[in-house]
Amino acid sequence: MTYSETLEEEILKKISQAEDQDSLEEIRIAELGKKGKISLLMKDLSKLSPEDRKEQGSKLNILKKNISNAISSKKNELTNIELEKRLLEEKIDITLPVQVNQSKHGKIHPVSQVLDEISEIFGSLGYKISEGPDIETEHYNFNALNIPEYHPARQMHDTFYLNNDNTEEKHVLRTHTSPVQVRTMEKDKPPFKFISPGRTYRCDSDQTHTPMFHQIEGLVVDEETHLGHLKWTLETFFKSFFELDNIEIQLRPSYFPFTEPSLEVDVLCDRSGSVLKIGEGSDWLEVAGAGMVHPEVLKSSNIDPNKYQGFAFGLGVDRLAQLKYGIPDLRTFFNGDIRWLNHYGFSFLDIPTLSRGLKK
Ligand code: PHE
Repeated sequence: MTYSETLEEEILKKISQAEDQDSLEEIRIAELGKKGKISLLMKDLSKLSPEDRKEQGSKLNILKKNISNAISSKKNELTNIELEKRLLEEKIDITLPVQVNQSKHGKIHPVSQVLDEISEIFGSLGYKISEGPDIETEHYNFNALNIPEYHPARQMHDTFYLNNDNTEEKHVLRTHTSPVQVRTMEKDKPPFKFISPGRTYRCDSDQTHTPMFHQIEGLVVDEETHLGHLKWTLETFFKSFFELDNIEIQLRPSYFPFTEPSLEVDVLCDRSGSVLKIGEGSDWLEVAGAGMVHPEVLKSSNIDPNKYQGFAFGLGVDRLAQLKYGIPDLRTFFNGDIRWLNHYGFSFLDIPTLSRGLKK
């Protein structure tokens, strides 16, 4: 058999009639495939005289090209038709009310919810968000924060050290979010105003401690920021977070190597009943560490401490979630128990906003 116009017409007709991708693929294999009609014709060329071979060869090449062009344009056509069909079938009516079938949709973990709430509050106060790695170098986790080797403060942290055989610098699981202070300040120029939420790790486990927990670091550095601003910021934050106007906070002198002066922040609470009540009573509950950024920390970040100053604070996110939503045991946060999550979790529609309320 040799090239003929009828053959071309015949194949083109088949292609135009193909109803879906599969039948088009069948045609492609039957005509252009290794054992396809056109390939066989190509093979037969060797049997022809040189002149005939030349003539038939070029005609066959044109035929081959025409057929593959026809197949690819048909393929495009079919893809478009299939897409149109799918789009019509998968149409959704976005005006329909959302079906809040809780068990089907899962829940937002209280820690995620509280992280969103805190970010929303600080966002409204003009704070940016800055993040750092969970695996830290000793430099950022300790040294740059004015905690040199053999400093007793390293003992306070129950650090997880990583297997550091092959590296020059020791790596740790960060024991707090404070390393992000230095990482962020190094990269940019003052003024700074940001929070850094994230996971932190200490080798500790009981009703109020888990080896992994969450912190939110806050940092404000410019030329004039002072302790009064810190107090106002924390007071404003706690009022907004607990959605109470009568929150009272107390700043207690404390010690952190990376702040000077350093303080611990307590909120007024009532422990007399079975439920701990915030904003009432005469007891104090510790909720944050804070202070004015130590000049050594500014120096580690290449910032002139004679020109710039600021405050830093660290909030225990899980502790705040426990307090706000009455969750007694911290360890249950990370057990992955679906019944617990169904009880304490939030609907995916409860997105915290200051205008609509942080929680529903
Ligand atoms: N990094 C401290 C801690 O984890 C908290 C803190 C942050 C204290 C910032 C002061 C300033 O205990």
